Amino acid sequence: MPSPRKLFVTTALPYANGNFHIGHIMEYIQADTWVRFQRMQGAQVNFVGADDAHGAPIMIAAEKAGKTPQQFVADIAAGRKPYLDGFHIAFDNWHSTDAPENHQLAQDIYRDLKAAGLIETRTIEQFFDPEKNMFLPDRYIKGECPKCHAKDQYGDNCEVCGTVYAPTDLIAPYSALSGAQPVLKSSEHFFFKLSDPRCVAFLEQWTQNGVHVQPEVANKVKEWFTVRTNPDGSTSEGLGDWDISRDAPYFGIEIPDAPGKYFYVWLDAPVGYLASLKNLLEKRGEDYDAYMADPALEQVHFIGKDIVTFHTLFWPAMLKFSGRKTPDKVCVHGFLTVNNGEKMSKSRGTGLDPLKYLSLGMNPEWLRYYLAAKLNGRNEDIDFNPADFMARVNSDLVGKFINIASRAAGFVAKRFDGRLGAVSHDGEVLLCTLRQQADTVFDAYDKRDTARAVRETMLLADRVNEYVDANKPWELAKQEGQELRLQDVCTTCIEAFRLLALYLKPVLPALAAQVEAFLNVPPLSSADAHTLLGAGHAIGAYQHLMQRVDVKQLEALFEAPAQAESRPDAIETVAPPSQDPGGEPIAPTITIDDFAKIDLRIAKIVACQAVEGSKKLLQLTLDVGETGADGQPATRNVFSGIASAYRPEQLVGKLTVMVANLAPRKMKFGLSEGMVLAASHGDEKAHPGIHLLEPWPGATPGMRVR
Ligand code: 2FM
Ligand code: ZN
Repeated sequence: MPSPRKLFVTTALPYANGNFHIGHIMEYIQADTWVRFQRMQGAQVNFVGADDAHGAPIMIAAEKAGKTPQQFVADIAAGRKPYLDGFHIAFDNWHSTDAPENHQLAQDIYRDLKAAGLIETRTIEQFFDPEKNMFLPDRYIKGECPKCHAKDQYGDNCEVCGTVYAPTDLIAPYSALSGAQPVLKSSEHFFFKLSDPRCVAFLEQWTQNGVHVQPEVANKVKEWFTVRTNPDGSTSEGLGDWDISRDAPYFGIEIPDAPGKYFYVWLDAPVGYLASLKNLLEKRGEDYDAYMADPALEQVHFIGKDIVTFHTLFWPAMLKFSGRKTPDKVCVHGFLTVNNGEKMSKSRGTGLDPLKYLSLGMNPEWLRYYLAAKLNGRNEDIDFNPADFMARVNSDLVGKFINIASRAAGFVAKRFDGRLGAVSHDGEVLLCTLRQQADTVFDAYDKRDTARAVRETMLLADRVNEYVDANKPWELAKQEGQELRLQDVCTTCIEAFRLLALYLKPVLPALAAQVEAFLNVPPLSSADAHTLLGAGHAIGAYQHLMQRVDVKQLEALFEAPAQAESRPDAIETVAPPSQDPGGEPIAPTITIDDFAKIDLRIAKIVACQAVEGSKKLLQLTLDVGETGADGQPATRNVFSGIASAYRPEQLVGKLTVMVANLAPRKMKFGLSEGMVLAASHGDEKAHPGIHLLEPWPGATPGMRVR
């Protein structure tokens, strides 16, 4: 007997600045399915996650929320459980990169890298926000694209024309935090010397030896050994050194012996995998160092395609040259799109809201099944298509698989007191076919090709349904003298159902638990593929195991939310001062004839009062020299949004200008018969104030303004 595999499994650590979105859930389901499969095979697995707590965006978000960064990330962490429990994602531990274990481990690794001669300091010039008193990450510098002159582009590339540049290339750069003009300032930074020949040789071997990453990933990584893109868009040869430090203020881990310097968040983030494991083992009273020193231990990371560089270059090199165990596998998946639509990466968490899915009463195992049926272990994008989802769940999962049990269990309960009978030759042939596929299905799971595992299992379900259709238990039940055959056929179905449930167990853990209870068996493991329940085994009462998807649930799931959610990592930008007069550009040109259409008149404010129920409006009674049908002077009633600027008594008796031919407008408070003119700045927040127009002395009510 080979000894059981010993596995340490992780998923990418999510930034603690937003809730999980469907992209996270997909990755966790993929990893959880693999872990459950390995456990069924007898492996000892530690499956851990954590919040990625550090970095400038979280520090800034916390400040905006009026919280300490620690409180901010703790609040995010408190919201994780409903997602994980809801989708049956069973991490053994959930920790934080701000935990003491991570501070310690990250600093230890750094010291070891320094001792290996792989840390170097250099002075670099960077944009600094003089108002916020901090160096600005590229994403927090905006300005005009030097190429296409699009305004408000980020400091690293233009979203309009795609040009890659350095922040210093931007025209009229400004800080997205304060709007201030940034200044160039120099500072000492720490670099991890990836360009060192030792690193290059190790990484070429580690990424290209066909063991640690998928072939398509190895091919992509290969390019980085020959050419790399610099911040200004130019290219250089080979791996570049990695800037691992950031200046205070920064929410992160202090660099030893370097006051005011912190590790860049991506230095300590993957160390968080080790920290979470260490925390778990220590809680259990196990020794972390001894665990990691076991040569049989396999370290497996599940990640998305957007963070391959960090996990296939920086992270293995950090571990290798600090004298630690390097990863055994980095399993890369693509993005999830919804309806061939928007990318479901970390930065765009729209489309399919996981908590909404659960709140609609949708079965989490439908989603697990659907994703399993699509993921094939390669670095490819997959699409969530609602019609496809409904077809696969309703026709395959429920129609082909669940129905086998419902077609047979009733007869076993009613006619045979729940007892299984003997299986005759044709049934044995069918069960043999099912058992023979165990290795194929298990091999597919091991390679994370769950699409193949599910496909093979559904082909077997087809065979079982053919057997049911050929033997028609509902007809046998009506025929005299067919009791034994009925028990034989139903027993075959139940035995087959058990095998199929076993094959789907990594994907459908809650359903498998229900099946185990119904069949009266202990938890199924891979070895059970070669056993039978056997004649005489008593099964429990059958209760319906799974509903079909209702199209109304899908409609509700994709109904647009009342208010669009903001991107979880979106940066709220402070706009720079506008260069336009009065804060807004001059409107398009009109002709004199256009202007002549507007009849502006001098108006006398003969009465003015506050409007009950409105903080904004004042009610003005205006004399524009008009006479009513009765020959008496007539006045106009106008509501105007100037209450923040004037008290009524300040205005009575004053002259102003009104638009006299504006169509009357019915308002909540009455009819408004025109509009008075006032000046205000385009950016009301920065330049509050409303200034009513008043003519020079000599103008009288009714005079036209032209
Ligand atoms: O891209 C991200 O969301 C990162 N927070 C992933 C970190 S993975 C690991 F290194 F911690
Ligand atoms: Zn551009």
